[in-house]
Amino acid sequence: MNRLAADLWPRTARLEADGDISVGGLRLSALAARYGTPAYILDEADVRARCRTYAAALPGAEIAYAAKAFLCRAMAGWIAEEGLSLDLCSAGELAVARSVRFPADRILLHGNAKTPHDLQAAIGYGVGRVVVDSASEIVRLAALSRRRQRVLIRVTPGIDAQAHPAVATGVEDQKFGFSIASGDAADAVRKVFAHPELELVGLHCHLGSQLTHVQAYELAAAQLVRLMAAVRNRYGVALPELNLGGGHAVPYLAEDETFSLAEFAGRVRRVVQAECAAHRLPVPRLTVEPGRAIVSRAMVTIYRVLAVKHVPGVRAFVAVDGGMSDNPRPALYGARYTVRALRLPGTALEPVTVAGRHCEAGDVLAVDVPLPATTRPGDLLSVPGTGAYNYSMASNYNMVGRPPVVAVRDGAARVLVRRETDSDLLLRDVGV
Ligand code: LLP
Repeated sequence: MNRLAADLWPRTARLEADGDISVGGLRLSALAARYGTPAYILDEADVRARCRTYAAALPGAEIAYAAKAFLCRAMAGWIAEEGLSLDLCSAGELAVARSVRFPADRILLHGNAKTPHDLQAAIGYGVGRVVVDSASEIVRLAALSRRRQRVLIRVTPGIDAQAHPAVATGVEDQKFGFSIASGDAADAVRKVFAHPELELVGLHCHLGSQLTHVQAYELAAAQLVRLMAAVRNRYGVALPELNLGGGHAVPYLAEDETFSLAEFAGRVRRVVQAECAAHRLPVPRLTVEPGRAIVSRAMVTIYRVLAVKHVPGVRAFVAVDGGMSDNPRPALYGARYTVRALRLPGTALEPVTVAGRHCEAGDVLAVDVPLPATTRPGDLLSVPGTGAYNYSMASNYNMVGRPPVVAVRDGAARVLVRRETDSDLLLRDVGV
């Protein structure tokens, strides 16, 4: 309790003598007083440092931040400034990127079912690459394209990377990509080559999310290079891009396994070079699409305790002013989080269940986490590691407004996304 577990917290996080935590030089309790709770606190320095770590670990590779993990205009601006590319999957995400004039040639558009609006928006902005994911999309994209559109084909390598079933995308039985094993991927290549409006520049796969082992990436890289060799043999074209998607795991609990970026970089590079040499293929440029690994640890959510209930012989519930509307991941995937009180324990710690304010029993943020036995209404709690897929998956369940996103840096705070108000909630309700 007298230190912050390494690698769970933003890089600038510090434990203060009174048990409070500061991030970006500002105390979380002061931020709670100023911006209210719940609130998402985002450490800009942490985001930028992770971008640089990726660029340094994979020299020459393209790093495309997966915006689905977390996106707002400031974040898109930081990604642009850090020289990364941007993986988007909807016209809405593109609208955010467009609003900060994110360089179009560094944008990739994904999606297994892109709407006409998505494709039109992408073509209108001139996005660098569209990652095609179905036969009908190839036809629709070719028909819409005004100039030659660069595309990648998303393929399914049939690899079980041991991801949670909701995010396991390398296996055959899921909705994404063209199966290599069935021949659908080769067929998609033929279809793209049949459209002169499209320029095939590479292959893409995404194996899943929160993956800890590098081996699945090695297997996928080898398979994709072999398919590239087959494409070269048949059409005489050596594809210049090999995109291995995202999925790099981050720790949520002190004991969680971590993903080694250095190991990934070394092993994947070796496999790609060996396979290319074996097939006399020029080595393609590698693209990776980390989302979680860039932003997860940069954010801490702060909550205020509203109620404490000891159910005799069962457990103690500590209920806070947020819950599954700001962090649906525990309810959706059984995700586990670390929780820390923003004060010294005073007495012993006891295991409690941190529950949200929503009207269902499953609205639990963390089970059996150690909190001060004296925890009482009014106390502040902090949850690190909430940067990825919290704000982006937040909802208005029970007509609860979404929390603000507040960026901190060098002792200064600024609101990136303001708190959603009751009148915001009524804005779209136009049918009385
Ligand atoms: N590239 C593609 C094509 C993807 O579909 C994804 C994530 C990524 C990259 C980034 O993956 P990451 O590096 O963040 O693992 N809502 C779930 C995660 C869904 C991931 C979907 N695709 C969660 O909260 O765990």
